[in-house]
Amino acid sequence: MSENIIDPRREDFPIFECLGAAYLDSAATSQKPRCVIDAERDFYEKLNSNPLRGFYPLSLAATEAYENARKAVCRFIGAQSPKEIVFTNNATSAINLVAYSYGLENLTPCDRIVVSIAEHHSNMLPWQMVASKTGAELVYMKCGEHGEFSDEEIERCITPNTKLVAIAAVSNVTGAHAPLEKIISAAHSVGAVVMVDGAQSVPHLKTDVQSLDADFLAFSAHKMLGPMGVGVLYGKRRLLEEMPPFLTGGEMIESVTVKGAVYAELPHKFEAGTVNAAGAAALKAAIDYYDGVGIDNMERRELFLTKYAFDGLSAIPGVHIIGSDDHKNHTGILSFTVDGVHPHDISEILSSDGVCIRAGHHCAQPLLAHLGVHASARASLMYYNTTQEIDRFLESVSSIRRRMGYR
Ligand code: ALA
Repeated sequence: MSENIIDPRREDFPIFECLGAAYLDSAATSQKPRCVIDAERDFYEKLNSNPLRGFYPLSLAATEAYENARKAVCRFIGAQSPKEIVFTNNATSAINLVAYSYGLENLTPCDRIVVSIAEHHSNMLPWQMVASKTGAELVYMKCGEHGEFSDEEIERCITPNTKLVAIAAVSNVTGAHAPLEKIISAAHSVGAVVMVDGAQSVPHLKTDVQSLDADFLAFSAHKMLGPMGVGVLYGKRRLLEEMPPFLTGGEMIESVTVKGAVYAELPHKFEAGTVNAAGAAALKAAIDYYDGVGIDNMERRELFLTKYAFDGLSAIPGVHIIGSDDHKNHTGILSFTVDGVHPHDISEILSSDGVCIRAGHHCAQPLLAHLGVHASARASLMYYNTTQEIDRFLESVSSIRRRMGYR
């Protein structure tokens, strides 16, 4: 391997000790290093108590673990303050929080919501809901066949009455990078806020919310080596301060009377009920792991793996990769079709050869319809993958048409 490309520490991931198959489905969920699994177990073994409530040492230690995780996330994405970091259940619940709390409160029939056609349903359905409840106009920003957004399309969609723009930093189907700087600056020039879905970007590309100037960013721990059941909403403090709570209940208040309540300060106002402190502690362990390996090293390795897989897949007759013809614009995601073979059959054949991929509409039906594809197979890579796994994948894909009876 070249000097600049690190070797993955496969031994850090217990699943690889027992999984015979090549795991190429990290866009769906990443595998977890031992330190993450240990951190979650350690919380329950050593700190378990309800954080933010008790004044005894165990509960204070649980609170500290939880708040340390928030600080780690804050630093990892370059936020100004941990108060801008809200823990949720996943990226979907983070986006729904913004839709209900910001969208329903601030949008009117005179306003426009712009949603990219390339969104995962998670960053589309909440805005369809807001549009239908508020009467705001919903406009879809269309991408080209490579998943790219043109300046003309950005200009066509983001008009003076636009109040909110929803955009994925990286598409979960094509892996294409959205021109976030252009979109955010166009949105801000008309006073709109931008909801960035970072589910497929934060795990793979260094993120700095301040230089990006994103208003909201949502992502999930489970796609970035962390546990399932923990999501993050970053929001600019000014916006979060003005937003009402989405869920109400325990631990999100200063005081309550029979007539009403004074809500807690940020970020607790948005974290009603018992929180997933063990999950947050495990997310912190995942961030520590990123720091240990270096996200720049991971990015370089993922780029190398993407090129390797992209070149191999492009050379197989009857295979069509969806999205850019430049591997750099795939972020480890290779969605593809094979002439005459349904993606579910592709996935089954790969599975029988010990290769795990995803097949179907990838929770992005409008994008697939826009691209004129009914469904696709999708291989997705992460830094821990090897070229041997990709070879196994390529060999299996090469055999599919023959095994389905084509010559
Ligand atoms: N959003 C995840 C995916 O694209 C589950 O597979």
